[in-house]
Amino acid sequence: MKDRQGCMPLHASYKLLLLVLVALVVLAGFSYKIMTTRTYLRPVMYTPSPHTLALGHPTFEDIREYERNLPQHRTPGLFTKYHPRYLFFPWEAWGTGWNNVFQEQLLNTHLAYLANRGYVFVDYIARDHPPFPDELPNGTRHMLHIPMNALTSGPTGGGSWGEGANPAVSPPVSQNWWDVACPPEKIVEVHMAETTQELGITESTTGEKRLMLWAEKLRNIEAECVSVLGGTPFDYVFILTETVVSMWSSYGDSPTLKQYAWSALITRAIARNFPLFSSDPQVPPALSPTLSRITTTPGAGSVAAPYPLNAFTPLRADAPPIRGLLGIHLRRGDYEAHCKSLAEWGLGYNTWNNFGEPRVRATGLFPPLPDYLSLRDNETRADAVLRHCWPTAEAIVERVRSVRAEAAERDGQQLRAVHMATNGETGWVADMAGRLRADRWELVSSSLDMQLAPDEFAVSQAVDMGVLVAAETFIGVGFSSLSSNVVQLRLAGGRHANTSRLW
Ligand SMILES: *[C@@H]1O[C@H](CO)[C@@H](O)[C@H](O)[C@H]1NC(C)=O
Ligand SMILES: *[C@@H]1O[C@H](CO)[C@@H](O)[C@H](O)[C@H]1NC(C)=O
Ligand SMILES: *[C@@H]1O[C@H](CO)[C@@H](O)[C@H](O)[C@H]1NC(C)=O
Repeated sequence: MKDRQGCMPLHASYKLLLLVLVALVVLAGFSYKIMTTRTYLRPVMYTPSPHTLALGHPTFEDIREYERNLPQHRTPGLFTKYHPRYLFFPWEAWGTGWNNVFQEQLLNTHLAYLANRGYVFVDYIARDHPPFPDELPNGTRHMLHIPMNALTSGPTGGGSWGEGANPAVSPPVSQNWWDVACPPEKIVEVHMAETTQELGITESTTGEKRLMLWAEKLRNIEAECVSVLGGTPFDYVFILTETVVSMWSSYGDSPTLKQYAWSALITRAIARNFPLFSSDPQVPPALSPTLSRITTTPGAGSVAAPYPLNAFTPLRADAPPIRGLLGIHLRRGDYEAHCKSLAEWGLGYNTWNNFGEPRVRATGLFPPLPDYLSLRDNETRADAVLRHCWPTAEAIVERVRSVRAEAAERDGQQLRAVHMATNGETGWVADMAGRLRADRWELVSSSLDMQLAPDEFAVSQAVDMGVLVAAETFIGVGFSSLSSNVVQLRLAGGRHANTSRLW
């Protein structure tokens, strides 16, 4: 009896082993059959056009190769957790200021996530504010195309949705992959006007409600490839309405924002310029290159010999702030005329900058920004708009001083360095720097001081934004989409609402 009892489990485990072996052979044959009968797809390789080369534009080849190699850009393997389903918005804004375009792209990334679909990201085309001359000899423009991962490598650039996100949702994919995976016969088209009507969306439908209705509609479509034509649900007209803030309850906590990270390119640029923002000899871990991927040859890491991009981990919005740094946005140039128009039209603050508006704050539903478009006694609204939109040099110094004092009193921040993100003229910026130094700021820097390689210069406004998001405290322009995007990324990164101020 004892023997038999001893033998039985042995017998059973042999049988089990045999069964497993047979199963493995069958499975291997089965998957071999699948592998050989289906085509294995990859996005096409990038080759710079002769015009790009003739104009001396950066080609971003390292970034394009990075995008091409993202794991979601190939035929999914047998064990892929998600079923590939994509959402493309060919009618998204393009070519205007990057921050206007990006606002919409972030919201669409979130809509795609809620619809269990991977957002399809495109290149940014620098039409309205080209960073380099882009005219061909015959006068035709050859506009610079900037890959998404020169700007962001968070979910909108195909980065992970992060832990805790729904594992069934495809990661976002590039348009190059969409072109491969979604030939015309596989695409289901959804039309804006028709669908808006079908969903009963009117001007009075809140942002949150729109988001949920659209998400449900797009989730329930079976097809792998869905394209929204004839407009987008969150275009610039909608983004400027007051109801957009209602989306924050879902969007503010979304993987799109919580997993936000700048590109490795932007991280590299901020790391090189770190001594402008801090006298700390130690570059913080979030900005440090991987030592094994860089050389220590003198001059390595400079603009002339930048470190390779794979030496940098994309800087997350929730990385610890740069101690002692105040980031300020001073929009000049075209804003002189723009601020006057805003005063005439009676427009309010841009999108997420409205969280400080007393009516919005009173709901208790949103991050309580401390500042809003306030009116002084006896001040007309038009004058108030100009004061907040186009502060004078004296007003800037005074405001910076009072914010420094409040940050010290409230949060114990010891602000010592100030970085001005600005498109102001050299003379004006130098004058501002002098005034700030005279007001006991130890380190004063501006966009003009940044040492940038050509590919970093192509995204210089986003490099500045990376610094503004990383700063302990920020002061922005209420009317600006750049400032509004900095505010949303600071909030997403867990910076307290009190540390995002407006002029
Ligand atoms: C200008 O030159 C480019 C490049 O050779 C060409 O593609 C384009 O069609 C030309 N435009 C005109 C108006 O001739
Ligand atoms: C506002 O204007 C009124 C009338 O012109 C004047 O009496 C008052 O002192 C002004 N208040 C302030 C704070 O300037
Ligand atoms: C934010 O600022 C307000 C007003 O100064 C203050 O009452 C509140 O305690 C601050 N909150 C934090 C977390 O600092």
